[in-house]
Amino acid sequence: MGTIVSVVGARPNFMKIAPLYEEIKSRGGSQILVHTGQHYDENMSKIFFEDLSMPEPDVYFGIGSGSHASQTARIMLEFEKTMLDTNPELVVVVGDVNSTLACSLVCAKMGIPIAHVESGLRSFDRTMPEEINRILTDSISDFLFTPSIDANENLLNEGVDPGKIHFVGNIMIDSLLRSVEKSNKSTIMKEFGLETNGFGILTLHRPSNVDSPDSLLDLVESACLASDYSQIIFPVHPRTMKLLENEKLANLIKSSNLTLCEPLGYLDFISLLSNSKFVLTDSGGIQEESTALGIPCLTMRENTERPITVSMGTNTIVGKDRGLLLSLVSEIFQGRGKTGTIPEYWDGETSSRISDIIQFAIS
Ligand code: UD1
Repeated sequence: MGTIVSVVGARPNFMKIAPLYEEIKSRGGSQILVHTGQHYDENMSKIFFEDLSMPEPDVYFGIGSGSHASQTARIMLEFEKTMLDTNPELVVVVGDVNSTLACSLVCAKMGIPIAHVESGLRSFDRTMPEEINRILTDSISDFLFTPSIDANENLLNEGVDPGKIHFVGNIMIDSLLRSVEKSNKSTIMKEFGLETNGFGILTLHRPSNVDSPDSLLDLVESACLASDYSQIIFPVHPRTMKLLENEKLANLIKSSNLTLCEPLGYLDFISLLSNSKFVLTDSGGIQEESTALGIPCLTMRENTERPITVSMGTNTIVGKDRGLLLSLVSEIFQGRGKTGTIPEYWDGETSSRISDIIQFAIS
């Protein structure tokens, strides 16, 4: 195999690249790991490298935060230089963050083949920045590695050449299955004094939910009411933290059974999730992880790009419907939470299936 460049940038990228990097390494492939630095706080980035036993990145751009245009453009300028320096045979991008699109665009213009892992997901909501990133990245990628059959259908409906589409399963589950046992060593349950099945989790970071104080207040109020059933641990994303300084919100949280904490590392979070009774979230990855772990998930968004977690898994879309959310939490506590089945190829072998295809194509 020639040199493969793998790109990470933001928190949800690390657990998608880690198993593939490891698999390609075990096959003797030459690799360069690029970190754009879209996420840079220790608990949004460095801790994931440690928890996932990833090597230090070979190249780090330190891009940081900024508007979409400025962040994307700055990543592109740096990545173009890296491409000129390294001349790789293939670039692997994952997910739907700005780093994913920025690096794909550079490759498409330079004629460098792109493999997109987690291809074909669609929320059909173009107000989400991630939806734009997904559509554009898929439209210029050469290898489209899909996590579920619905993703294949989306790509075919958009007229993508079927020869480019490879249904390989969900790579996040490779990391999850490898980490569940390791996460037993985490002390987070003890630190919070939690019992298995005795608590819920809340995560919120989507711009549509957290960028307006009214919207965030509405959702946090619902979570506070849900916390009458049990304590809820709320690791707060930096984007969300900015608004929680609002006095009304702070008072509301103080008088509830919600426990706030800093963003958690991967193993701590998996330890919490696998021991929890339920999860309230607007994250895409957590919808998938909770399905894989059989934990009921109530998604505080109007749609999902991961519909298989609803049709087969433990996920229910509740949006901002407080009545629905509270009735489902009540059902969970009566032992009638949604159980589900594991979608096809969410089996821990996705990185191996991807490597087989890559190895064949570029050797
Ligand atoms: C990004 C991704 C989103 C993903 C999320 C996971 C895009 C468009 N969005 O959203 O798809 O679900 O990551 O977390 O790529 N900040 C820090 N420290 C950090 C990173 C960010 O304090 O390490 C703060 C900054 O103030 C920044 C804000 O969080 O302005 C938002 O960060 P940004 O990377 O722009 O988007 P996310 O909301 O994290």
